[in-house]
Order: sequence, then C-alpha cells, then structure tokens
Amino acid sequence: MSTHDLPTDGAQPRHFLDVDDLSAAELSAVLDRAATYKDALAAGADHADLPGATLGMLFQKASTRTRVSFETGMTQLGGHAIFLGADDIQLGRGEPLKDTSRALSRYVDVLMARVFKHENVEVLAEHADVPVVNGLTDDAHPCQTLADLLTIRERFDGFEDVSAVWVGDGNNVAQSFVLGCALAGVELTVATPPEHAVDDAIIDRAATLGTAPETTSDPESAVEGADVVYTDVWVSMGQEDERDTRLRRFEGFQVNETLLEAAPGAVVMHCLPAHRGEEITDRVIEGERSIVFAQAENRLHAQKALLVELLDGE
Ligand code: CP
Ligand code: NVA
Repeated sequence: MSTHDLPTDGAQPRHFLDVDDLSAAELSAVLDRAATYKDALAAGADHADLPGATLGMLFQKASTRTRVSFETGMTQLGGHAIFLGADDIQLGRGEPLKDTSRALSRYVDVLMARVFKHENVEVLAEHADVPVVNGLTDDAHPCQTLADLLTIRERFDGFEDVSAVWVGDGNNVAQSFVLGCALAGVELTVATPPEHAVDDAIIDRAATLGTAPETTSDPESAVEGADVVYTDVWVSMGQEDERDTRLRRFEGFQVNETLLEAAPGAVVMHCLPAHRGEEITDRVIEGERSIVFAQAENRLHAQKALLVELLDGE
C-alpha cells in the first residue's frame, strides 16, 4: 500500500461506523484474520500487510486503549499513525468537519475518529474519500465489539451456545455489542434501568441481523446461568453533569460477587476504563473470572484485521 491515490473511478470507500457495516461473513473473516495476526505477533512472524499506509486518528475524547492499539497496530502492519487531538488541529478553532475530512483524505489512507455525536462520524464518512472508522461515539463503539467477539470466540471456541448478559447502561458499548452478538449468533440478554435502555432502533436492527436480545430491568434473573457477564461505566465521557442521577438509577446493577452467584461459570468482561466500586467491584475485576485484559489486548489484533479488511477491499 502506498499513499492513497486520488479516486478516479468513483469507487466509494468502505467505512466502519458500526458493526453491521460488515456482513456476518466479513465479520467472521476479520476475526479469523485477527487470530492469525495474534499468532504471528506471538511467534515474531512478519505480517506487515500495510506497508507505507497512514492512519489519521482524530480524538475529541480521551483514550488509552483505542489510541495506543491503533497506533501500535499500524506500526506492526508496516504503516504509520498520526494522533490528531481535536483541539490541536483547526477543527478546534471552528473549521468544519466536512473540510477536515476532505483535507485529511488527501493525506491519509484511512481515518479513525472518536467524537461525541454519532452524526459527526457520518459527516466525516460522507465527505471522506478514504475509509472512516468509528473509534467511539456517544452511540456506538464497534471496534470494541470486534475485540469482544474475538475474546468470546477464543474463550468458548466459537459462538454456538454461548449466552451473554449485558448489565448496566445501554450505552455506546452496549449498542454495538447488541449488533455484534446478533451478527455473530451469540445469545444475549440486556439488563438496564428503564431510563437507560438500548435504543429501540438498535434492537430492531439486531432483529434484522439475527436474533434481537431479550431486554429486562432485572439483572439478577438476567445473569442466571450466563457464560459471559459484561458491564461498562455508569457515567460515560460527556455525561459528567448527570453523575448523581445516574448513580441513583444504577443502584442494583453493580457486577459484584453476590450478583455473580447466579452465574457460577461466567467470565466477566468490561471494555475499560472501569470505575471500581460503581459498576463493578475491585474483587470481581481482579478475580479469576475477569478476562478484561485479554479483551483489551484483543483490541490490537482485531483492529489490525479490520484495517486490512477495509484497505484491501478498496
Ligand atoms: N475501551 C476503550 O475504548 O478504551 P479507551 O477509552 O482507553 O480507548
Ligand atoms: N461508555 C464509555 C466507554 C469508554 C471506552 C464512554 O463512552 O465513556
């Protein structure tokens, strides 16, 4: 791969704004490739499949895992990544997103963006002539879901007969997980307070992809016999003003040892960063059932596979 050529044939780039931008077969291929890259990295085998390619990484919100896994991934693939903090580029001084997108498209081969409003990644994609990857919006976190599915697949040797339960906020991470589980065939129950349920539109989309999750506001009955219990923070980035109300509403939704008694065989997942003592206890996250750091590691392998899928298909 060399620097992106200006499009001459009107071909549209492939974007990844949510999980269902991949078909079930493409998702499966990405997970297979991720597993291959993971093995190659462990064996010290060369897998520089994107030599000379450049990834732009636009961030309006903080990040540890997304930023470092994408940048490291590009290095391992023989490419390069550029960190673009929103306040360090002209976007922070009011340059329109569509102009940012068009200008960046002339330099980079692929653009990853972490923004507040989901419509902002749609604007970037609409005006980009390179693939745009959603690195988290207020509504979706599809790169996280790729790593989550890779982690589940490794742990259970596939997706068949795996039952997962989401406990807590029906937020960005939850919504992409709902779509990913539907696409992969993981049986899912979502337990949220009624005020923080997954959007109806996401449930409907899941139904068109496979099976829609069961929804409930009773975490205790939801986790009974589950293989996977997954949670995320109660106060996401940008919601700090709602903190007191949210902490009240999420009472009873903490993933702790008492809740997990009903799911003795379950592993525990969390996208991180975690707020210990809120949505999850220190004992659980540090305990034997926790697979959160395997999950975090898989961000690297899954995203490398995604980048190759999007760029090779151009
Ligand atoms: N899970 C996740 O996206 O982590 P970061 O916010 O650290 O990128
Ligand atoms: N729901 C969290 C996820 C962080 C990776 C947030 O949006 O802050």
